[in-house]
Amino acid sequence: EKGGYDYFMLKEIAEQPKAVADTLLGRIDAAGSLTLDELRISAAELREVDKVVIVACGTAFHAGLIAKYAIEHWTRIPCEVELASEFRYRDPILDPRTLVIAISQSGETMDTLMALRHAREQGSKVLAICNTNGSTIPRESDAVLYTHAGPEVAVASTKAFLTQLVACYLVALYLGQVRGTKWGDEIQAVIRDLSKISCEVERVLETMEPVRDLARSLAAKNTVLFLGRHVGYPVALEGALKLKELAYMHAEGFAAGELKHGPIALIEQDLPVVVVAPSPRGRSVLHDKIVSNIQEIRARGARTIVIAEEGDEAVAPYADHLIRIPATPTLLQPLVATVPLQVFACELATARGNEVDQPRNLAKSVTVE
Ligand code: F6R
Repeated sequence: EKGGYDYFMLKEIAEQPKAVADTLLGRIDAAGSLTLDELRISAAELREVDKVVIVACGTAFHAGLIAKYAIEHWTRIPCEVELASEFRYRDPILDPRTLVIAISQSGETMDTLMALRHAREQGSKVLAICNTNGSTIPRESDAVLYTHAGPEVAVASTKAFLTQLVACYLVALYLGQVRGTKWGDEIQAVIRDLSKISCEVERVLETMEPVRDLARSLAAKNTVLFLGRHVGYPVALEGALKLKELAYMHAEGFAAGELKHGPIALIEQDLPVVVVAPSPRGRSVLHDKIVSNIQEIRARGARTIVIAEEGDEAVAPYADHLIRIPATPTLLQPLVATVPLQVFACELATARGNEVDQPRNLAKSVTVE
């Protein structure tokens, strides 16, 4: 049932190109328009939306953080992202023009379910992004967009996360399409790139051997830090979460711009720091900034592990280890940048003798609050 792999997690990491392609299937037509007829929220209702609120937990929350960048950039609708466990307890401001998006692989996470019930009581429409047909969260939502990752068995989420990102991009693009905001060449190009992205994920998977070697060489470390900017920041958070869950190591993700406000004090000789570098094209300001962040931590002894686009030469002199990913539009980069971090965490867990598919103290779906 593990299809020749030692662990479900390895199988599920390998299934990601297909999971991504399946989640896109039938949702983009030949002319590059999105057809999300399955959404039971009408285009007229979507045109009325004046705020989006995303609620989710864990890895699904990280997908939500990335979705915020896409939704605000492509639709100009303000978007908030909140941990489902915090949401309900602070009397959030919701009304019928708020679209609430609940992201959940299992569809059974109690905190997310309670958050969506609360939102519906306030009259907001709830759209579920979910991987499990007929589960509670989509049943109780106004609409659902299913991710087609197939069953995810390993406790640590991998393919579900990538498909959650795809679903979030589709929702963001669809909102832009029905509202006619910013609907231009950039969006058409992104849709074209999105429809080819599963091949790029495949290419990343083919180059993971050095990442495995690197992970094994770090098995005796106690701490790994992760830094990113823009959409690379939630990717850093996700990399850190995977490492905590699987390798039981102290791992933290930071926005690289926050370094000087505290975390840089943690940097010491030989501390591994993974940096997700934004694309050098387009947003070059961000890229310049990450190059200086890498220089700053390296000058203080950090061992820098840099995830950077092919062709990004500016980071190379400061990277002790360079992990290459294909060039993608800025907002889509998490689809390729997360994969090496999953492989990294999985290999480190194995090297430390941990049970990969069933990490200690964790359950696949958390049905208590
Ligand atoms: C991390 C992980 C968890 C889940 C979280 C939400 O690898 O799997 O953080 O993402 O418990 O679960 P769902 O998506 O089922 O609501």
